Amino acid sequence: MHGIVLAGGTGSRLWPITRGVSKQLLHVYDKPMVHYPIATLMAAGIRKILIITTPEDHDAYKRLLGRGEELGVEFHFKIQDKPRGLAEAFLIGEKFLEEQKCALILGDNIFHGSGLGRQLMDYTNVEGAHIFAYRVADPSQYGVVEFSDSGDVLSIQEKPEMPKSNFAVPGLYFYDQNVVEFAKSVLPSARGELEITSVNNAYLEANNLRVSVLPRGTAWLDTGTVQALHDASSYIKILEDRQGTKVSCLEEVAWRQGWITDDQLSSLAIAYGASPFGKFLVSLLEDGNEREK
Ligand code: DAU
Repeated sequence: MHGIVLAGGTGSRLWPITRGVSKQLLHVYDKPMVHYPIATLMAAGIRKILIITTPEDHDAYKRLLGRGEELGVEFHFKIQDKPRGLAEAFLIGEKFLEEQKCALILGDNIFHGSGLGRQLMDYTNVEGAHIFAYRVADPSQYGVVEFSDSGDVLSIQEKPEMPKSNFAVPGLYFYDQNVVEFAKSVLPSARGELEITSVNNAYLEANNLRVSVLPRGTAWLDTGTVQALHDASSYIKILEDRQGTKVSCLEEVAWRQGWITDDQLSSLAIAYGASPFGKFLVSLLEDGNEREK
């Protein structure tokens, strides 16, 4: 399975912060926002990842991430020249996908939870589409799942004024190789975007959509507003300070997956110089040298 991180858009809800820099390059506590969704894909075992950016920020992402070889992965980069909607990712990524199955993750969505990576691995061989539902207090700003009494999915609505449930659809989606064709059949919505919700509804109509409710112990944070961005930073800071660990550290994920050796991790630690990241990577090697998950 290949992965796509969608990191374009205008970030207008964060203006003026994002007038000069892409939202997904901003930091969430101690690392760039885009590291979190990339770590989620890597934890699911996905090693070939396309990052879709705005034209202006393309070079900055390449500078930040490189080609990925020192992490045992492949990063590819493509431009979305205008924010025409999330489903455009599959049209931009058609060649990259090579008719393989695909996970799409939004560059501003953060997932964290015990065993999440292993859980997500189950979906990398998906038939049809597999998406998630997550209980939130106010679902009206999201895609919202309507369930029947017996738990079947009846509909998914994008930003409904009167949500039919409290279950929002997080920005992480697993699709089979038909997703490009489904995306090609999608027409722009009233707000002029190719909606991911339309792709999901197309799979639903084909009776080929599964929805899993993410456990309450999993954190799903989005970082679209100043308040949400601040909250996400606080969440990561509290966890990391308390536990002495790091959330979504790309080098650690690569090492635990067995994609890089102890020696390679050690070299990456040295390259961090005086940054606390270097010390953290060294501590992984010193802690009994065990690749526990
Ligand atoms: O966060 C989950 C929600 O994401 C889902 O529940 C919704 O169904 C889905 O439509 C989406 O809603 P948002 O309103 O949050 O989408 P937004 O326009 O904020 O875009 C999400 C991310 O994707 C953001 O980081 C910018 C990026 N993006 C967005 C568009 C429209 C692109 O890279 N290109 C685009 O064309």
